[in-house]
Amino acid sequence: MAQASDSANAPNMGRRQFMNVMAFGTVTGVALGALYPVVRYFIPPSAGGEGEGVVAKDKLGKPIDAGNVAAEHDPGDRVLTQGIDGDPTYVMITEDESIASYGLNAVCTHLGCIVPWDGSQNKFVCPCHGSQYDATGKVVRGPAPKSLALVNTEVTEGNQIVYTPWEETDFRTGQAPWWT
Ligand code: FES
Repeated sequence: MAQASDSANAPNMGRRQFMNVMAFGTVTGVALGALYPVVRYFIPPSAGGEGEGVVAKDKLGKPIDAGNVAAEHDPGDRVLTQGIDGDPTYVMITEDESIASYGLNAVCTHLGCIVPWDGSQNKFVCPCHGSQYDATGKVVRGPAPKSLALVNTEVTEGNQIVYTPWEETDFRTGQAPWWT
């Protein structure tokens, strides 16, 4: 008799499931709360300065003096510097020994080797698989599928070279930039 009344009072399946949802929901909430800062911890901090540009640096990480770079190199030279996100980036010395308004990301669009400038051929020639780019970084021989990425280059009053992302049309191909 007592047993019959116990089972009549026992919560049915729907009620049990409701309690399960409440209990596991709370546990999951606590776990997610604890996990969030852990996941954030492993994401590297941003370099900052978004939108303001990045100062070109030399191999020791020191800002480059635009006047010295132009004076120390021949017209038409391309000088390797550290650019946006630490990417190796060429400063282009123009024929009148000033700094061009664009620079080139030196990472080969094939598999990512750094492409050296060959002044005697007036080209960038990748030593890894032989891709070639003309003096403006436009691809002229594969296997590289795309031209070198452009960056905007500006010289500040303090004679520093500042790179900003190139989001305009690629003047070499007349197409939207593939790197944005
Ligand atoms: S990485 Fe430059 S050609 Fe392959």
